[in-house]
Amino acid sequence: MKRVTKAVFPAAGMGTRFLPATKANPKEMLPIVDKPLIQYAVEEAVSAGITDLIFIIGRTKRAIADHFDKAYELEVELETRGKLKALEELRNMLPSYVNCIYIRQAEALGLGHAVLCAEPAVNDEPFVVILADDLIDAEPGVTKQMCDQYDYYQSSIVGVQTVDPSETGSYGIVACEPMSDRLSRVIKIVEKPKPAEAPSNLAVVGRYVLTPRIFNQLRHIERGAGGELQLTDGIAGLLKEQQVLAYAFEGKRYDCGSKVGYLEATVEYAMKHPEVAEEFGNYLRNRFCGPCKNGQGTP
Ligand code: UTP
Repeated sequence: MKRVTKAVFPAAGMGTRFLPATKANPKEMLPIVDKPLIQYAVEEAVSAGITDLIFIIGRTKRAIADHFDKAYELEVELETRGKLKALEELRNMLPSYVNCIYIRQAEALGLGHAVLCAEPAVNDEPFVVILADDLIDAEPGVTKQMCDQYDYYQSSIVGVQTVDPSETGSYGIVACEPMSDRLSRVIKIVEKPKPAEAPSNLAVVGRYVLTPRIFNQLRHIERGAGGELQLTDGIAGLLKEQQVLAYAFEGKRYDCGSKVGYLEATVEYAMKHPEVAEEFGNYLRNRFCGPCKNGQGTP
């Protein structure tokens, strides 16, 4: 039995919905409170037992590598100033046994192409794909939940959640046969169907476990929705040769590729952050519920 030890983090998209913030920085470096999205994604992977982190980077290629590299000068500076907590956090960002691999996607041709760029580092092994802009608050993390399913079924698995039927045009949508509470067998997958043409309102969100056969499919796909090489179309091909499962994960997802989703995540994560939760909670109550008395606020 092959365990999943490799994760691919596509981070070479244009991030047009967040311009100009994403002009010189990838969307995956946008912070939620004090950590960039990509770091939440990496922590989710590491806690699932992933040891090889494969980043697909684009135009703004340096930021992510710089973020995960050791920063000697900064460490010395923090030590000199006695900022030991920050120093420790910085040093413990990644466990020492983890490998980081950076692969350049020279042109943003689509998510399917970004995943195909990972092939030389993934080789003939199952792997997970994590889209860091889908931030999912879950315990255990969704990657762990899905790797556990993979250990049992040894099949590709897509993470799914139900969306409002009016939103199908923003997602890959699956039609499924139920197997158990959270698991079903995918019988069809389509990228961004209009609501009238969607086979269901079960949407694929940014978590996948894939067998290496996906690369054969991705090599042959043609430009699909939005003129991009779509991972969904690769998975549609994979379905013809292998079983693909859909897993309705446990957790709350924030679509941080959209401004509103990003702001929601910021508020929710701030309200759980030990350093700022109380003060920020008071601010919100004062701002939206009237003057704050004893931290209670007046609705
Ligand atoms: P999105 O569909 O959100 O596209 O990509 P985007 O370019 O990042 O953002 P918008 O829509 O222009 O605002 C989904 C994921 O796929 C990656 C992105 O970085 C994101 O994690 N991606 C997309 C690539 O790595 N390469 C691509 O060519 C396209």
